[in-house]
Amino acid sequence: MTVSEPEQNLELLRRRVLANLSNRTSSGLAKVRLHNVEMEQVQIYKMLENTIKFNEGKSCLVIGPRGSGKTTMVNNALLDLQERFPNMFYVIRISGFYQSDDKSAIKEIARQLDWHLLRHSGNWNVSFERFSANETMNSVMSVLDGSQLMEGKDQNGDNDEMQMPIIFVIDELDRYTNDAKQTLLYNLFDVAQSSSNSHAVAVIGLTTVTGVREQLEKRVKSRFSQRVIQLTKPRQLAEFCDNVYCMISVDPDDFDPLMFDLAQKYNAHMKMLLGGPSELRKLVVHNFYTVKDLNILKSQLTPYIAKMDMTTFSGGPIINVNTNNRSFQILQSLSELELKLVICAGRQLLKNSMDQVNFNIAYEEFEKISSSQTNTLNSQLQTMGRVKLDSAHHSRDLMLACWERLIYYGLLVEPIRQINGINSSFYTGGESNKMFHLDVTVEDVARLFRHKDWVTKWCRI
Ligand SMILES: Nc1ncnc2c1ncn2[C@@H]1O[C@H](COP(=O)(O)OP(=O)(O)OP(=O)(O)O)[C@@H](O)[C@H]1O
Ligand SMILES: [Mg+2]
Repeated sequence: MTVSEPEQNLELLRRRVLANLSNRTSSGLAKVRLHNVEMEQVQIYKMLENTIKFNEGKSCLVIGPRGSGKTTMVNNALLDLQERFPNMFYVIRISGFYQSDDKSAIKEIARQLDWHLLRHSGNWNVSFERFSANETMNSVMSVLDGSQLMEGKDQNGDNDEMQMPIIFVIDELDRYTNDAKQTLLYNLFDVAQSSSNSHAVAVIGLTTVTGVREQLEKRVKSRFSQRVIQLTKPRQLAEFCDNVYCMISVDPDDFDPLMFDLAQKYNAHMKMLLGGPSELRKLVVHNFYTVKDLNILKSQLTPYIAKMDMTTFSGGPIINVNTNNRSFQILQSLSELELKLVICAGRQLLKNSMDQVNFNIAYEEFEKISSSQTNTLNSQLQTMGRVKLDSAHHSRDLMLACWERLIYYGLLVEPIRQINGINSSFYTGGESNKMFHLDVTVEDVARLFRHKDWVTKWCRI
């Protein structure tokens, strides 16, 4: 079957819209239009342009809540730079989500440097990766600070590629502040600050933590150039709708003249749907008043656009995504003992109007309730003339392991406090004394498990 030309155009339009909604575009392969962050994007662009053109080392933090466009904005700026200065700089990306500690981050940096060198010069003989993380760090840093070029490299007198500006993009930067010395951040900020004329390094850190600067260790903080770009989520529904419009509309100029009209018609229709009563607007309003997350909206809109009738622009199905609190989903997957510990911690918080709890307090409550339950059971058994039960003792170590699991799942969150300028997370006063915030309340647990009798009993205060 041959497809007529107008049909081809419609498909092209659909594909363009879908490309904007897919995650591939957020991964930095193509530019994604953003609404209302032009100024910030230009700021990043200018900073990096100076690094490339004048070898100025810079560091900068981009702070903003989830889905506020941090990653996309930096990617857009980098794509612009790539267009203007092709093959004149290296980009190295790491993320606190994937490379969760300094060691794996430095290994990843070495791997990406190796890859860039190989691509640039086809040189197989150089490798930054060493057997131990420390040595890898040394080999990477010696190149970055330009003080000492790689052995073998300087003999060839061929170190041009080592002189290329390097741009580090560190997603989820706050994850690297948990380490006591913050070696990775220290070294990167240090080379960025002291970048010599011959060698420039720029560091861009992305994070959702507003107070991340306070989490930086003193020496790290003093090396950071204090440039912060703050992104916020839209406060007004109209602004949110504008962002959504930007996400699902197309730029008519991107198309050839034949399709210009079609693209304009599509845009106008989308604007109308977002402004007036429609399924689409219902979805957007719901999202705004609940999660305010464009990423969720993107995945809901994908089938809507994919199944859209492109001649009338009537949309496909809208799929409901479960946008429950993440912690609630974790609660459902806990073991019985873990759940009991959550309830006990929550009970203590409620009873004593505290806002933080430690393992000792929660464990004490746990013992109290379990022994009182065994006692009730025993007295019932006794009246029936049956054998008594031993009280169900769970060893403290076992419960401590459960407690650690809860920390790992993120249900217990460590508060950031400073003691004499040192983050208290570096201050160890014993695992069982460490105070935590609990991310859920007893009411939440009771509501979520209202069909389980034992949970209701444990939650009753
Ligand atoms: N101002 C905006 N205008 C239009 N679209 C936006 C805007 N902000 C975010 N988006 C959309 O939301 C998507 C998600 O953005 P992105 O992944 O860059 O956010 P993020 O801040 O990096 O989030 P996270 O903290 O989860 O990494 C973008 O790809 C874009 O489609
Ligand atoms: Mg991101």
